Amino acid sequence: MSEGERLTELAKRRGFYFPSSSAYGGAAGFWTYGPQGAALKSNIEDAWRDRYVVKEGHQEISAPDVMPEPVFEASGHLDGFDDMIVECGECGATHRADHLVEDNTDIEEAESLPNEEVMDLIAEHGIECPSCHTSLADQPVDNFNLMFETNIGPGSSSPGYLRPETAQGIFVEFPQLSEYARNQLPFGVAQIGKAYRNEISPRKSLVRVREFTQAELEHFVDPEEDEPPLAEVEDVVLPLYAAAEQQTDDGGQRELTVREAVDEDIVESEWVAYYLGVSKEWYERIGVDMDRFRYRQHLAGERAHYASDCWDAESEVDGDWIEITGFAYRGDYDLSKHAKHSGEDYTVFKQYDEPITVDRATVDPDMSYLGPEFGGSAGAVADALEALAERNPDAFDDDEVTVEVDGKSHTVPVDKTNFSVDEVTENGEHIRPHVVEPSFGVGRIIYTVLAHSYETDEVDGEERTYLGLPPEQAPTTVGVFPLMDKDGMDDLATDIADDLRAAGLSVTYDDSGAIGRRYRRQDEVGTPYCVTVDYESLEDDSEAQRASDSASSAEPRSANRSSGQSPREDGDEPRAGTVTVRERDTTEQKRLPIDGLAETLEQLSTGDRTFDDL
Ligand code: GAP
Repeated sequence: MSEGERLTELAKRRGFYFPSSSAYGGAAGFWTYGPQGAALKSNIEDAWRDRYVVKEGHQEISAPDVMPEPVFEASGHLDGFDDMIVECGECGATHRADHLVEDNTDIEEAESLPNEEVMDLIAEHGIECPSCHTSLADQPVDNFNLMFETNIGPGSSSPGYLRPETAQGIFVEFPQLSEYARNQLPFGVAQIGKAYRNEISPRKSLVRVREFTQAELEHFVDPEEDEPPLAEVEDVVLPLYAAAEQQTDDGGQRELTVREAVDEDIVESEWVAYYLGVSKEWYERIGVDMDRFRYRQHLAGERAHYASDCWDAESEVDGDWIEITGFAYRGDYDLSKHAKHSGEDYTVFKQYDEPITVDRATVDPDMSYLGPEFGGSAGAVADALEALAERNPDAFDDDEVTVEVDGKSHTVPVDKTNFSVDEVTENGEHIRPHVVEPSFGVGRIIYTVLAHSYETDEVDGEERTYLGLPPEQAPTTVGVFPLMDKDGMDDLATDIADDLRAAGLSVTYDDSGAIGRRYRRQDEVGTPYCVTVDYESLEDDSEAQRASDSASSAEPRSANRSSGQSPREDGDEPRAGTVTVRERDTTEQKRLPIDGLAETLEQLSTGDRTFDDL
């Protein structure tokens, strides 16, 4: 069984994730997170929020999943968000053409090649349809737009799309969001939410799906002035696989600190380098194996339509590298596009420290001349003259000036433009922020963390599987078991489970089957600690109770116990009993007092104490 298959089997059996709607035959590329998976997902999202929103001091929003067509006309997704598709002439199955090339040749990034070259490679390597094994040679390789289309309201007059990235929900609202940030750059807006892509060939369970969760941060910066706090991460060592290394036969990964990567111009943008450093530490924290992790730079032909420099965080599973996060310097691409298409103001007013005096070139075209001369184009000619005066005042030095409107040249006598240069005082200027974007795929991170934490060893002569998840990420922090479901052990275990839950820990109570089987079940879902209540716990507990009873002549606790209620009516009486606490990875067990147990487990989970210290 491959690593991925083994993982998917465990994921289905133990409730991490499974294919959706299977009662009706299912729909490829849609997965349901079960109880363990949903808890893991929410823990990873919380860890992301803690690092990228709270610690960075950014804001988080939640925008709609459906957005109207003009948004995606402006963003470029309507025209450019395509993958290469090839259709089998025999059985009609459709496949992602670049993936077929990657699967059947040594080429790693076929996505960066033109369609014609991919078509030639399919013929040259005799690549067949994976469904019916007919040759795909000479089948055209076309573009397929990945967006899911819908209609907003009845009828088809208002088309909309499920967002293919959460980012657009942030860019579109920039004018409003900028107000909330008091128009002060830099500021970041984050979002965790669903994105949808109608993938040609969903595959590898959570790796390529049609509905997935993204955690994205759009950090708006002044490109002239703002600098990242690079010193905070400058010593973090990055495993970098730069574009140049990918293009040489013996090129490979290089280990450089964030500072070295910037100084050597390996990572072009300091902002991107900053987030590579922050993220390396974050991946480590959530359980990505750093021996199976790298940052890979995009090749020129592979970059998204909006990105000038782009690096991917990649994890290795089953010998394949999976993109788990994209780090892009998007420049002012998105804000410019939305400004142009909507006519709204997508700038920030930047106040100067001191007002400045500048020469400002302006025109005031004589419309009584432009109107008869250029008819319907007169307004556009006037706008073009105004833009030209701002951009290149020298163009007005001669008797005539020429502007282009819709590909056509229009020549105007300069004296009809009323061109003048005046001295003006300016307090500031409108600037268009640039955007730095770390964009995380939550499902792929979950897949990676599960694959990298999957361990097997031998316990009591039997093979054991466990997930070595960091306690912060584990779906359950502690499993609580009565050794047997009788003699009061169940009542005491229930009380302890309730107390641990009340203290904020995530607890599973399990009283079914042999104790060894219960440990294995928790091992397989990555529960870091298990607490077992045994006969000794009862003896300890009742001895303590006797002592307490004789001291205070309080009502006997056994009365409560037999009625199934908590032995501690108000919950503030300390317990003197003990339980065994077992650590998942070593299977070592220690006897610990029930009193203070929640605090001890909390400290173990956060790493403030180790099991050895107990
Ligand atoms: N806003 C930028 C953006 O969307 P992207 O590289 O297309 O960039 C970001 O996507 C992340 O989303 C990827 O690194 C990946 O983790 C995840 N992702 C993209 N497509 C996916 C799919 N079909 N299934 C699962 N995750 C996907």
